[in-house]
Amino acid sequence: MEAYFLDFANLLLRWLHVIAAVAWIGESIYFVMLDNGLRPPKAAEDQRKGVFGEMWAVHGGGFYHNQKYASAPEKLPEDLHWSFWKAYTTWLSGFGLFVLLYMANPGFYLVNPGSDWAWAANLTGWQANVVALLFLLGGWVVYNEMCKRISPNMERDGLLSLAVAVMMVVVAYLSTQIFAGRAAFLLTGAVMATAMSANVFFWIIPGQRRMVKAMKAGETPNPIDGKRGKQRSVHNTYFTLPVVLLMLSNHYSFTYTHELSWVIMSLFIFAGALIRQFFVLMHAGQIKPAYPASGAVLILVAVWIGAPTAGNATAAATASSETAGGETAPAQVAQAEPESRAQTIIEQRCVQCHAQNPSHAGFSAAPAGVILDTPEQMLRQIDQIKQVVASGYMPLGNITQMTDEERAEIAAWSP
Ligand code: HEC
Repeated sequence: MEAYFLDFANLLLRWLHVIAAVAWIGESIYFVMLDNGLRPPKAAEDQRKGVFGEMWAVHGGGFYHNQKYASAPEKLPEDLHWSFWKAYTTWLSGFGLFVLLYMANPGFYLVNPGSDWAWAANLTGWQANVVALLFLLGGWVVYNEMCKRISPNMERDGLLSLAVAVMMVVVAYLSTQIFAGRAAFLLTGAVMATAMSANVFFWIIPGQRRMVKAMKAGETPNPIDGKRGKQRSVHNTYFTLPVVLLMLSNHYSFTYTHELSWVIMSLFIFAGALIRQFFVLMHAGQIKPAYPASGAVLILVAVWIGAPTAGNATAAATASSETAGGETAPAQVAQAEPESRAQTIIEQRCVQCHAQNPSHAGFSAAPAGVILDTPEQMLRQIDQIKQVVASGYMPLGNITQMTDEERAEIAAWSP
């Protein structure tokens, strides 16, 4: 019953998270489009009032006329629209999901028993939780310090972007070394998402408040606040596509179970940023197909790196069963009745979780909807079964102690 309520809470929180993220990212993309799509104002009156650019749009049966002021309008209206709750709600609901899904079961989902680093492989559950929180916090501190030190007056934003790119590769690498693959992708995405929300919370909104306060007092706002808000908004723009891809790839075990998952993750991040760049320029009237084309090339490289080969499947299987209790017998392919043997293995190692009514504590329904109660169900999902067993991803945390031999038998299973 408890597992059922937790699952339901998970669904509702995920619903909120996705809706808030859609609203936030949608608004952010809209404002970048607006900013880059502005044209000099036509009316002399607007030019006199200090209008810097304008955009006419038709949407939902109405005509809209947006104007952006170079500094500020003569008189600030009382009912200014502010954008921040979407950002905060996205972060809070995402963090809630992380707590509910990962931190509630860290031994399963966070700890990486196959890590090359002994300290990481041997983390206890609560230690892994603390390390995950420090990882998120550390990501923000490092990113924020880089912004402050490298380009405090927005004078070296190009160099800063390069530094942020390098930082993300390091984050991807560290996360896959320290945490279980799925959590690593999630946490790398969360480092970017946290930087995005924190940019809004610590810089963009406070800067705007100072600007509004100055204007109300009849003073000229400090231009640094506007410039810095812009700098952080630009970073947020390039984070959006990579963050969404990382959050989604989390459901595709072929990405995060790979030995070079940090490279795949880095390629995803750069591909997302390059594709975003295309749209940013497109709104300003420049069509540069080289950007999405290079993004596509990076994704193809990821496809190529991630492609399963007999070699890396066996390596992953060996690595995962070594960590599960020293079972190092050389893999042997079963000779007799591979079909029924494979099914027996699945009954022994998988159905605790993957059943209509799982017997394993904490599962109220078959995880990922994968039910393996009958031979027909097993046959129908043979490809997925082989993939997750070869990569070592399943059984999750090798909790049911599948051996190398059994993995080889599943690999050789051809009904
Ligand atoms: C301790 C419980 C547990 C055991 C045992 C287990 N699994 Fe899973 N399995 C899970 C969970 C949880 C997920 C969902 C993970 C996710 O969302 O990526 C999952 C997901 C899957 C998926 C879907 C993966 C995807 O990419 O969507 C397949 C296929 C699968 N398991 C097969 C197996 C096979 C085959 C075995 C036995 C060798 C097995 N599992 C043993 C818990 C388990």
